[in-house]
Amino acid sequence: MTASTPVPHLRTLEDLGAGALGTVLDRALELKALRGREEHPKPLAGKRVAVVLEKASTRTRLSFEVGIHELGGLPIALLAKSTHLGRGEPISDTARMLSGFVHAVVFRTFAQSRLEELAGASRVPVINGLTDAVHPCQLLADLMTVREAFGTLAGRTIAYVGDGNNMAHSWILAAGLTGLRLRLACPAGYAPDEAVLDRGRALGADVRVVQDPREAAAGADVVTTDVWASMGQEDEQRERAEAFASFTVDAPLMGLAQRDAIFLHCLPAHRGEEVSAEVIDGPASRVFEEAENRLHSQKALLEHLVAPA
Ligand code: CP
Ligand code: NVA
Repeated sequence: MTASTPVPHLRTLEDLGAGALGTVLDRALELKALRGREEHPKPLAGKRVAVVLEKASTRTRLSFEVGIHELGGLPIALLAKSTHLGRGEPISDTARMLSGFVHAVVFRTFAQSRLEELAGASRVPVINGLTDAVHPCQLLADLMTVREAFGTLAGRTIAYVGDGNNMAHSWILAAGLTGLRLRLACPAGYAPDEAVLDRGRALGADVRVVQDPREAAAGADVVTTDVWASMGQEDEQRERAEAFASFTVDAPLMGLAQRDAIFLHCLPAHRGEEVSAEVIDGPASRVFEEAENRLHSQKALLEHLVAPA
């Protein structure tokens, strides 16, 4: 990569655009089929990728570390609390320093502006591993899981029930890039950011926000939800539990969706809060396929950003 070549990043799904998103999802399905076989590619051979985490993570860390290893690369996990980032070292210095050691950086942080600052100062691709605003890598896995269930994305109806948070925002942008129809049911005061809705609609998203989960779930192909209090909102747990009390995805709600509808959740889940045990552990649930698809879709993403053909 020369100094004048723009560095490709995944700050939000918008960085991929509709074409590259489709290519990455196609490749994710191919890599899943190739897993464990001799022909599985090793495009990261001789390359290193840092996974820098300022928030807790189980799946993101695991799926990136395993995926980087399976692509022939070396993953290096850095937990912010045990680094100088956690002691106030400037993000831009961290970005410039990391660029001398690794070929890409996965960053999980709080404000989207921290991620943007890292990407702005980095000479290597930066991948958003979740911010307060969006969780694009999760959507790669979710879209892949929808494709596995239904073959195509365009025209399918997604019901998102719950908080207008980083997952809701990511679904809104994904709807704009894929032609998925999106219905979000959020309690008053917890709707998604209007600016993100505008960005999604500018991409072409057919998206509607309602306050009744039944209205969103009626006729849906996919019903999905997320925790009521995200990382960093632990203090609001009690007031949120009250606001979201009628937003549990349970069997009667799933019964309003299509007969072959599937249930998705990025995990971790709280049974008895945003989803009943009957639904998440029942026949419509694809949550563990979805979690495994983090691996395949991120491998395709890494290949696309770090070692394009
Ligand atoms: N879904 C997800 O990102 O999980 P982790 O927080 O465990 O990484
Ligand atoms: N909305 C959740 C997603 C966790 C994967 C959070 O930000 O904590």
